[in-house]
Amino acid sequence: MITNWQTRYSDNIREFGGYSIGKIFKYLTNPEIISLAGGLPSPEMFQKHEMRLASQKRLLGDIETIMQYTAIPGEKSLIEAVIGFLARDNIKVTHENILITSSGQHGLDLAGRLFINPGDVIMLDRPTFAGAIVAFQMQRPRICGIDIQEDGPDITSYRKMLVKYRHKGIKPKFIYVVPDFQNPSGITTSLQKRMGLLDLSYEFDIPILEDSPYRDLRYHGETVPSIFALDQERDGTNVIGLYTFSKLFCPGIRVGFNIGPAEVIGRMTNIKEANVLNTPKYNQDMCTEFLVSMGFEDHIRQCCSYYREKLSVFLDAMSDQLPHDLGVTWTKPEGGLFLWVTVPEHIDTNDLFMEAIKYKVAFVPGDVFYGENPARNHMRINFSYVSKEQLAEAVSRLSRCIKDRLQEG
Ligand SMILES: Cc1ncc(COP(=O)(O)O)c(C=O)c1O
Repeated sequence: MITNWQTRYSDNIREFGGYSIGKIFKYLTNPEIISLAGGLPSPEMFQKHEMRLASQKRLLGDIETIMQYTAIPGEKSLIEAVIGFLARDNIKVTHENILITSSGQHGLDLAGRLFINPGDVIMLDRPTFAGAIVAFQMQRPRICGIDIQEDGPDITSYRKMLVKYRHKGIKPKFIYVVPDFQNPSGITTSLQKRMGLLDLSYEFDIPILEDSPYRDLRYHGETVPSIFALDQERDGTNVIGLYTFSKLFCPGIRVGFNIGPAEVIGRMTNIKEANVLNTPKYNQDMCTEFLVSMGFEDHIRQCCSYYREKLSVFLDAMSDQLPHDLGVTWTKPEGGLFLWVTVPEHIDTNDLFMEAIKYKVAFVPGDVFYGENPARNHMRINFSYVSKEQLAEAVSRLSRCIKDRLQEG
């Protein structure tokens, strides 16, 4: 009888602990807790009626192809709709540059598997999306994190590290960034820094992975060109774009897409052949309907106006209630779903999380958003999911919790 399974696992998985955010959800079973923890879009923004109609149309139509295996790179109709979706953002791609994925997380997994050998260096911001960290960690890279600044990645520090690596004969496999309304910080990368990242990419010959789930959810300010589009303007082929329908349409459908040079997309397709095969046709068809017949431009405008209002209520309540004078600060995002709160360094937000549960409010402790050497005095706050009525109450509970903790010393 096998009793010690640990010795049987692969080297990649033996120490792998999975997605750390998931572990806090067991504390959120009490329905009285207002959770600002998940990264969920508001169900109020789901196009439920349109989805039912589209679903009925597809299921009454050619149900056999829906029930069958389908093309691994993705449905032609969805790929064409994606080409149009990207064209409005000045990105010019053809079929061979697109792979439909089974969600953004799948897109990240494909990128990690494609590029990383155990021990390879990858570079990313501190903090950055925990799901990307965990996807990449499966391949056991060495993660080099660079502290993010108010207007995006710290280009000077990236450069310094890249020079150091070059002296040691090390070439990082890629730089991973979320330039628009980053998860978790809400920070948007300025045009200058996007150009700066591209310059680094050309100078040091390193690809950029640009993850863009929130790009269309802008509530204030001007859209900044994507790094992918900037690279194309400069005739480059250094950027791989990762997208998902989860935040604009709905996460339950689990569809996204990766874009990049045909050669890279071909290899990602080979990996997809070996893991999920095809993304379910029904799910892809729903995304095609979303892009072509559910009035998605109007939908995006509605989402923006709905989330803009929530963000504004949230930020007002925070500036009224959070103890700024006691060293608590927070970002003021122009879009997306998150903001990032910093408390004085002596407070560990994992401890604060356990306190917050008693005040019936929850957030994600910030340490999970670091690939190495985590900072412990931050928290990620989601403002999209909680109802408008509960937003102010959530901030009030959080504020009481933080004040009480700070007054304890
Ligand atoms: C930056 C970023 N990338 C990728 C994803 C994954 O998206 P999906 O839910 O489609 O797997 C998320 C989800 O929160 C995200 O914030």
